[in-house]
Amino acid sequence: MKTVISVVGARPNFMKVAPLYREFLKHKNKIEHIIVHTGQHYDEKMSKVFFDDLELPKPDIYLGVGSGTHSVQTAKIMIEFEKILEEKKPDVVLVVGDVNSTLACSVVASKMLVPLVHVEAGLRSFDNTMPEEINRKVTDVLCDLLFVTEKSGMENLRNEGVNAKKIHFVGNVMIDSLIQYLEKSKSSTFLHDLNLTNNKYILTTIHRPSNVDQKDNLEKILTIFEGFPTDFPIIFPMHPRTQKNIGLFGLKERFDNLKNVKIVEPIGYLDFINLMANSKFVLTDSGGIQEESTYLGIPCITMRDNTERPITVEVGSNYLIGLNISEVIKIGNNIINGKMKSHAIPELWDGHAAERIVKIIIDYLENKNN
Ligand code: UD1
Repeated sequence: MKTVISVVGARPNFMKVAPLYREFLKHKNKIEHIIVHTGQHYDEKMSKVFFDDLELPKPDIYLGVGSGTHSVQTAKIMIEFEKILEEKKPDVVLVVGDVNSTLACSVVASKMLVPLVHVEAGLRSFDNTMPEEINRKVTDVLCDLLFVTEKSGMENLRNEGVNAKKIHFVGNVMIDSLIQYLEKSKSSTFLHDLNLTNNKYILTTIHRPSNVDQKDNLEKILTIFEGFPTDFPIIFPMHPRTQKNIGLFGLKERFDNLKNVKIVEPIGYLDFINLMANSKFVLTDSGGIQEESTYLGIPCITMRDNTERPITVEVGSNYLIGLNISEVIKIGNNIINGKMKSHAIPELWDGHAAERIVKIIIDYLENKNN
């Protein structure tokens, strides 16, 4: 029996590990799969609701580290995760995505000589002011197996000198979850509860430090919201970071006064997918939403200057615009008036990424013994 520890920490990790969990379960005669939750995200609406929606069991181990500066959070996770590896002695540590939990556990595993696997490797924004970019680069340099979602990831890793034998283009586990739960999400009553009509509202999420940690950028976002028709509701599930900063910068009243903007608490996975699938377009700075909207063919306006997921712009329905107020308003209104670019689903985003990944990990573990 071999032991694989998968790490989750923050909201975008849960839908990536869920299909892997299910796939490992099919091989439970040879793999013991342990889920460690670092506790980076701890609010019920940022964490537990996702475990429920994604039918994930309670994490086997909860580290409960909570929030802090990047260094404090990363260090706390490292201290706690080291104890787990000492006790469990896993054969593989699997990390997903690019959050601080990904980085912290990667460093611990590789220092303890435990083979490290990264799911969603190779993505690069080439922008080191993004904390995630540092997390991605450090993680990938330490890895024994790197699983890539799009061709740009292969190219980035090759350019960084990663041994080609370690790199596998497998598709996208986040899309595995989307495909798995799309049908079920249709029973969500959220749209109805908010009195929304299909195709007649905008969905927005904004949480990146580059957008919400500066008052003038939040003000630009307010101006963008004002640029859309007043009879076109903008649904805004608000991340705790954004909520905190809007209060801190004294902008709460201005946001509340926008008649077409409906601010709601962070929402669960099924409600969110349903909301996205029925929206006219999404306005976001998220990474994962660029991918999910691409799969769904829903136009996405990304309020960032760069993306580590270029395939979503090349073949998908994503427009990369940054905080260029007039351009965001222009493109958004074009979409409202029916003008959209053509789009396609990226290669291997077919619902079978987890299957490919688990097969390669099992082969790797079996061959290591020979
Ligand atoms: C993290 C990830 C980011 C990801 C995002 C998704 C890193 C560097 N960033 O950013 O890539 O897109 O998650 O949500 O790992 N907070 C709560 N409750 C929670 C969690 C956080 O109130 O459950 C508040 C805390 O005040 C905290 C702040 O939100 O200080 C930010 O949380 P943190 O985990 O540091 O980063 P995110 O902005 O959530």
